[in-house]
Amino acid sequence: MNQQTILVTGGAGYIGSHACIELLQAGFNVVVVDNLCNSKTEALSRVQQITDKTLTFYQHDIRDKAALADIFAKEAISSVMHFAGLKAVGESCEKPALYYHNNVYGTLVLTEVMAEANVKQLVFSSSATVYGECGCTQYAENFPLGPINPYGRSKAMVEDILRDLSAADTINQAKSPWKIALLRYFNPIGAHESGLIGEDPNGIPNNLLPYIAQVAIGKLTQLSVFGNDYPTPDGTGIRDYIHVVDLVKGHIKAIATLEGDAFGPGGCKAYNLGTGRGYSVLEIIDTFQKVTGQAINYKIAPRRAGDLAECFANPELALKELDWQAEKNLADMVADTWNWQTKNPQGYMQ
Ligand SMILES: NC(=O)c1ccc[n+]([C@@H]2O[C@H](COP(=O)([O-])OP(=O)(O)OC[C@H]3O[C@@H](n4cnc5c(N)ncnc54)[C@H](O)[C@@H]3O)[C@@H](O)[C@H]2O)c1
Repeated sequence: MNQQTILVTGGAGYIGSHACIELLQAGFNVVVVDNLCNSKTEALSRVQQITDKTLTFYQHDIRDKAALADIFAKEAISSVMHFAGLKAVGESCEKPALYYHNNVYGTLVLTEVMAEANVKQLVFSSSATVYGECGCTQYAENFPLGPINPYGRSKAMVEDILRDLSAADTINQAKSPWKIALLRYFNPIGAHESGLIGEDPNGIPNNLLPYIAQVAIGKLTQLSVFGNDYPTPDGTGIRDYIHVVDLVKGHIKAIATLEGDAFGPGGCKAYNLGTGRGYSVLEIIDTFQKVTGQAINYKIAPRRAGDLAECFANPELALKELDWQAEKNLADMVADTWNWQTKNPQGYMQ
């Protein structure tokens, strides 16, 4: 049984709570730090209910250096999974300073405290939004970066900072160098198969599948499909959707890889976490209707500025170096989303 302790920042959130389940089930001790700005402690209660294991929770902002240092002093942390961040692209355009302060400065504080505690293994939640438009559809890790909104830029900035921290180890001949995995998520969807935890968006969902699920359950009246004149087979945008449980399994593999010999003495590497297959908006709606038997009221609306026609991952590097690949299909993603939505129509607010 593995008794290492992992600090999960943002562990009460959508992806972080699923990661806590996988970590506890894999035998790790789990310590969560979350300021609950976009989550509820009920998610953590349910994580413990699902796993029949306990975790330790600290309600702090990661920008509170003293509070964070205190956690490292109290807990024997070996690695950090860093999910804490703000993630709404639209909001990031309205409040860019908030996004840079939370996502970039927050990570600086975290890495400072980690370095002081000599904990230098980190798995970071990056995003496919760091990629620039390259005139292609399938993105590999070595493609040029060029995010087009403050949220994406905050992720790209953190990637740069983490690469620089790691590079400085070589110059300074650090005894214990950083080992960092930058995991670039494509479009995480779905929920734990128990239906006890899932995505609980505040207000109107930004993402397609939670939106569809809320239309199906009657909380929202109609879905707008933004553009049906893209150069794709049915004219709607194509994205790489990945089941959240597959995604968090990639994090467990990343932790194992950082600790093993394969990662070498240290370094900072990016990995795409996607399925490598894209689905169009109309394919998602069609699958949702077939899997759930619910009709989805939708209309075609004009394209949104900044949306690409097609974008999906090249996931070969994660398979080769992390020994990870997605296993669940679109029907699983839809069925699990619907299971969560119908069991929790008000999210965690019962
Ligand atoms: N969900 C996606 O589609 C997606 C895609 C790519 C990358 N990501 C990244 O993955 C991470 C997790 O995303 P999620 O979907 O679970 O989001 P989420 O909002 O559900 O979870 C983020 C958690 O971090 C916490 N948090 C935010 N700022 C904090 C701070 N300063 N101090 C302490 N806690 C803080 C929030 O309360 C929340 O519980 C984020 O960094 C996000 O940018 C998400």
